[in-house]
Amino acid sequence: MKFFIDSANLEEIQEADRLGVLDGVTTNPTLMAKTGKTFPEVAASICKFVKGPVSLEVISTECSQMVAEGEKLREFGSNVVVKIPMTTEGLKAIKILSGQGIPINTTLIFQPIQALLAAKAGATYVSPFVGRHDDIAQDGMLVVRDILQIYRHYDIQTQVLVASARHPIHILESAKMGAHVVTAPLKVIQQLARHPLTDLGLKAFLDDWQKMKK
Ligand code: E4P
Repeated sequence: MKFFIDSANLEEIQEADRLGVLDGVTTNPTLMAKTGKTFPEVAASICKFVKGPVSLEVISTECSQMVAEGEKLREFGSNVVVKIPMTTEGLKAIKILSGQGIPINTTLIFQPIQALLAAKAGATYVSPFVGRHDDIAQDGMLVVRDILQIYRHYDIQTQVLVASARHPIHILESAKMGAHVVTAPLKVIQQLARHPLTDLGLKAFLDDWQKMKK
């Protein structure tokens, strides 16, 4: 399973990279706005630092404008994945941009058939937002399970990118289901490495070492 960081903050991206687990980056307009910098400045610095795929999201909602914006976003780097929202206009834009060989991440997926449509239109990734489902007392991981089942039935190559992952259980479940990618904030990626028994075990080893005869 690939790990992407869900962040537009270069320091966070660099820290995730130092952990040796970073395969790519996802951003969205909210994450971009949080940086307090201009979009071109942030997009350029991320695309320069990251070798893997970087999802940059369009803010247009009409097909031809999304296509024009997607083509412009690709100028930031050959690793740019154009993030398009799951709408009927979005599907039209996915068809055109993917037809030009531009990789697409279809965002704001909340039910499995949306993911089937995005795949048929040519998306490279689909992003089901699991945490936002959980926020309204629905099980977001069920959507991921159903998308994977549908894709396996039809041997669809589009990758399931589990988004809006808010805690380690989302990531554990994604791996058990065989999701292709998970994107999560740095804090969640760091939580994955921690276990209280690891900390206790390490403390005991270090305390015992102090008792060694020098
Ligand atoms: C995914 O690509 C989105 O940027 C993100 O995962 C949304 O997460 P949130 O629901 O925690 O805002």
